[in-house]
Amino acid sequence: MSSSLRSYKGVTPTLHQDVYIDEACVLVGDIDLDDDSSIWPLVAARGDVNHMKIGKRTNVQDGTILHVTRKSASNPNGHPLLIGDDVTVGHKAMLHGCTVGNRILIGMGAIILDGAIVEDDVILGAGSLVPPNKVLKSGFLYVGSPAKQIRPLTEAELKFLPESAENYVRLKNEYLQESV
Ligand SMILES: CC(C)(COP(=O)(O)OP(=O)(O)OC[C@H]1O[C@@H](n2cnc3c(N)ncnc32)[C@H](O)[C@@H]1OP(=O)(O)O)[C@@H](O)C(=O)NCCC(=O)NCCS
Repeated sequence: MSSSLRSYKGVTPTLHQDVYIDEACVLVGDIDLDDDSSIWPLVAARGDVNHMKIGKRTNVQDGTILHVTRKSASNPNGHPLLIGDDVTVGHKAMLHGCTVGNRILIGMGAIILDGAIVEDDVILGAGSLVPPNKVLKSGFLYVGSPAKQIRPLTEAELKFLPESAENYVRLKNEYLQESV
């Protein structure tokens, strides 16, 4: 597991309790992974020019790329990448310098650009693109490029969001058992 974790300027990713990091992914620098989060094969995450936070029970699926934007005179904070709790990030998504709240499904292959904010309880359809600084409002489905609000989430979808995260907690626990 440790071969996936690399230091940058003396800072190595921080793993809280029961985190699963697949050995075929790369995590560099200032990344905080909260309890029960999981990172699946071929994820590349670079917390080098800014920091990154991945919340509790959040899963980042295969082939996803996570990065941040450096601080500059015109943008003193740059853009960290902040992902909340119970988030499912589908395969091959790209999240760059954005803020993602809690209980969210980011569809496979979706792209979210700098400064965008995804509020709590949102589904973003597969292959969607969220432009810089766009805000996706809580409780809605968004799809397309650029992503557009389609409709409110149903009760079943709202219930599914934490269940999806919980399914991945169970799966990563099985993987953790394999690696002992
Ligand atoms: C958006 C999504 C949630 C389906 O929502 P839905 O309301 O059930 O959508 P429907 O299947 O009824 O389709 C509604 C319309 O949206 C279109 N549509 C569905 N998904 C779309 C997407 N990702 N992007 C663009 N359009 C999409 C459909 O073609 C349909 O169009 P039409 O009305 O012109 O025929 C689903 O398609 C999706 O993208 N899920 C993400 C799954 C995923 O990536 N999971 C992570 C990995 S585990």
